[in-house]
Amino acid sequence: MSEFDSALATWRARIERKLDATLPRAAETPARLHEAVRYSVLNGGKRLRPMLVYATGQMLGVPLIQLDVPAAAVELIHCYSLVHDDLPAMDDDDMRRGRPTTHRRFDEATAILVGDALQMLAFDLLATDRDLPADARTRLRLIELLSRAGGSRGMTGGQALDLAAEHVAVSLEQLETIHRLKTGRLLQAAVLMGAALAPMLDRGQERALADYGDLIGLAFQVRDDLLDVESDSATLGKTAGSDAIHGKATFPALLGVEASRKRLRELLDAALDALAGFGPQADVLREIARQVVERKT
Ligand code: IPE
Ligand code: IPE
Ligand code: MG
Ligand code: MG
Ligand code: MG
Repeated sequence: MSEFDSALATWRARIERKLDATLPRAAETPARLHEAVRYSVLNGGKRLRPMLVYATGQMLGVPLIQLDVPAAAVELIHCYSLVHDDLPAMDDDDMRRGRPTTHRRFDEATAILVGDALQMLAFDLLATDRDLPADARTRLRLIELLSRAGGSRGMTGGQALDLAAEHVAVSLEQLETIHRLKTGRLLQAAVLMGAALAPMLDRGQERALADYGDLIGLAFQVRDDLLDVESDSATLGKTAGSDAIHGKATFPALLGVEASRKRLRELLDAALDALAGFGPQADVLREIARQVVERKT
């Protein structure tokens, strides 16, 4: 196993353990809600956002133990966004991570409440979890990064723009704004939360990491759009072709497949350029960027 693969395996084991320990037990009242909460999180996601927290933090010398809480918090927000994204009022999807979506397995009201609960839990962790040995100021900074990335000027706003763009013509600039917001902001927040725990981070480094997070975030969604067209439901664990059915504004719909692939390569190059000042210690972030543009799932 390469050093990169073994780092990912270690982080993956940590985040699964932390999420499992953090979520209320399924038997705790209200049991149906808690069962649905666990169903919506402990279900084989790639955990990319936690990996970005760990990779950035480790690169900057933050002890692993400090990274579990922000890694879990950002993944909880991501899981909530997926549960709501799949609802009939939004993308109306039946499959997620290889299983029925939360509203299909349970019901719509429960899926809405799962999102509410996950969102609150994420901020509870950042505010109070004792696994995070951080002072109040650092906790506040993490809460600021995550709440802004998730709010109406970030992911939630991007979701609103995404829905408003169904079946209407959008420019490339508008499409990139949608993707940067709905997907990019949370990936960027993952990077910046890892960085926020670093003892000595200068402004230039923070700026470079913010650019890197933005660029891989946009690239991640371009790749997601391409996979929706080019892959199949069994591989993706979600319904392929869903974007076309809903008249979504996507890269392949606007530019075609070849030009979308070209844009993806440009975004990778730009993300690698953003890390130019870091030297070999940023190789894990470089490898993650490559995987984001080449991924099959
Ligand atoms: C899917 O995200 C939603 C997008 C932002 C494109 P992921 O592809 O990271 O989904 P999981 O977490 O691995 O299921
Ligand atoms: C998802 O974009 C963005 C968020 C969930 C915030 P998509 O709607 O393309 O994600 P998938 O394809 O359903 O995973
Ligand atoms: Mg969507
Ligand atoms: Mg969707
Ligand atoms: Mg998609």
